[in-house]
Amino acid sequence: MTAPTGAHNASHETHDYDVVVIGAGGSGLRAAIAAHESGARTAIVTKSLLGKAHTVMAEGGIAASMGNVWPEDNWQVHFRDTMRGGKMLNNWRMAQLHAQEAPERVWELEEWGALFDRTKDGKISQRDFGGHRYARLAHVGDRTGLEMIRTLQQRAVELGIDVYMECTVTQLLKDGDRIAGTFGYWRETGSFIQLNAPAVIIATGGIGKSFKVTSNSWEYTGDGHALALQAGASLINMEFVQFHPTGMVWPLSVRGLLITESVRGEGGVLRNSDGKRFMFDYITDYFKAETADTEEEADRWYDDHINNRRPPELLPRDEVARAINSEIKAGRGSPHGGVFLDIATRRSAADIHKRLPSMYHQFKELADVDITKDPMEVAPTCHYVMGGVEVDPETQAATVAGLYAVGEASGGMHGSNRLGGNSLSDLIVFGKRAGESAAEYAAKLDRRPAAPAADVANAIAVALKPFDDNGDENAYTVQQELQDVMFSLVGIIRTGAEMEQALAEIEKYKARVKRVTVQGGRAYNPGWHVALDIHNMLTVSEACAKAALERKESRGGHTRDDYPKTDPEWGKINLIVTEENGAISITHKPLPQMPADLAQLFEEAK
Ligand code: FUM
Repeated sequence: MTAPTGAHNASHETHDYDVVVIGAGGSGLRAAIAAHESGARTAIVTKSLLGKAHTVMAEGGIAASMGNVWPEDNWQVHFRDTMRGGKMLNNWRMAQLHAQEAPERVWELEEWGALFDRTKDGKISQRDFGGHRYARLAHVGDRTGLEMIRTLQQRAVELGIDVYMECTVTQLLKDGDRIAGTFGYWRETGSFIQLNAPAVIIATGGIGKSFKVTSNSWEYTGDGHALALQAGASLINMEFVQFHPTGMVWPLSVRGLLITESVRGEGGVLRNSDGKRFMFDYITDYFKAETADTEEEADRWYDDHINNRRPPELLPRDEVARAINSEIKAGRGSPHGGVFLDIATRRSAADIHKRLPSMYHQFKELADVDITKDPMEVAPTCHYVMGGVEVDPETQAATVAGLYAVGEASGGMHGSNRLGGNSLSDLIVFGKRAGESAAEYAAKLDRRPAAPAADVANAIAVALKPFDDNGDENAYTVQQELQDVMFSLVGIIRTGAEMEQALAEIEKYKARVKRVTVQGGRAYNPGWHVALDIHNMLTVSEACAKAALERKESRGGHTRDDYPKTDPEWGKINLIVTEENGAISITHKPLPQMPADLAQLFEEAK
């Protein structure tokens, strides 16, 4: 499956589609499949390789209330867990659709060839994850995201969807107030490419590369978030960044690499340097009723979810990450600055090889640690942004006509904190919805929008600007400084003064990137690519820091030392980010009202 040969004009090639999907991870692939199956001429454009996506870092499973292990499970419980995990800031309708449709999307993946692990009676196996009342993560060992990608990729190939790989989108094109396509460049040759389409779906993943320690790889520079903002769309929940509790800390070259939550889902426990299972000291009032406070009860959970309360290691991620951070800060950390995650004393070597094969290999090969015998050293790593393009819950349409967003690039679904496993289900539930909606929108238009030639000429000029030889700045230096600042000043624990300092630094970087110069030509030139990406990184970093400074409380993936309490008044407000003439501003928007029948579910739980 390769990109087709299209029309070439003097400066660049152009191609026509109905729907263009930016991003080739789980959400992009699922959206493209849906758009194609709805009859739209569809293309996927990705700056990386097909299927090389952060989706594979959702290793532990897909959350869906299929009830294969616990028949008591149903969409209402999943909905409730998701809302509580997000500290009730989630868009309730998205959380409802997600919980209702996830099982069907998982069975569909199976029909398309995904090979899930099985229960003894042959059903899709489901495992425990933090914040989920029942074991509900459909999984393939600890490589679930990879299997999802493999399945969707195969489906997209079978359908013959056009894919433009190693092709970066630098601008969304518009005709008046509507989307008209994308403009970008081939990474290999540096030549430009324009995809004309009335509907564009942003499926570019997150912003993790703006933080020094992260599970995200080089692609995650917030491109989709920034493109949408510049095209006039709004972002929501940008202050909420998820630090996965368990990233590798050693060796330094792999610091931040993910250790799946499945290790704790399979019974792994966290200990400090005194050997203490410290999570019992960090059970917050919010989850007290459902969390075991003795080791004995915690361990009984795996046999009986009905009569026992969840182990504290399976609290939602924000709670566990903060606890680990506190232990390290209190001087009870491991030799390389983490804490210990022990599966060796909890599961047999055979079980570990069977249920966590990737983790075994990851530690053996990268750190020379045998996790069937010794504990792992772990610390929080930036993993996911809850914030993204503000979308309509039914269609995933952004506030600009013809623009859609899905997966991590969209916001609202996960509120202030995402539960593990809810990302893979989000991708397939809303990927399908976005693809269908975009195709329907494109089919109904009476006139194809066309971008003005002057806008295309401007896009070319902007992309070539770093080749001006009168600058004195290096994009890599600015990128590294930004990552340090975001990790240390807008990271897991924040204060107003530190975020103001971060914003002042970001202003300086913005001035400096105007002076970035790159050496060499346009053919495969990574320095040029970073010089373009850094603008997006600065945009999303500023959006995140400004929203975080505005929210004067602590909630989910936003913890402020100067406002440590969760404030019910802030629980009624979403922060919306917009950009006008390059200036980013934040406004308050009331949360949509949850209907009484759904609100009742929380009363029943009490
Ligand atoms: O820990 C994990 O396997 C990650 C899953 C997720 O982010 O959903």
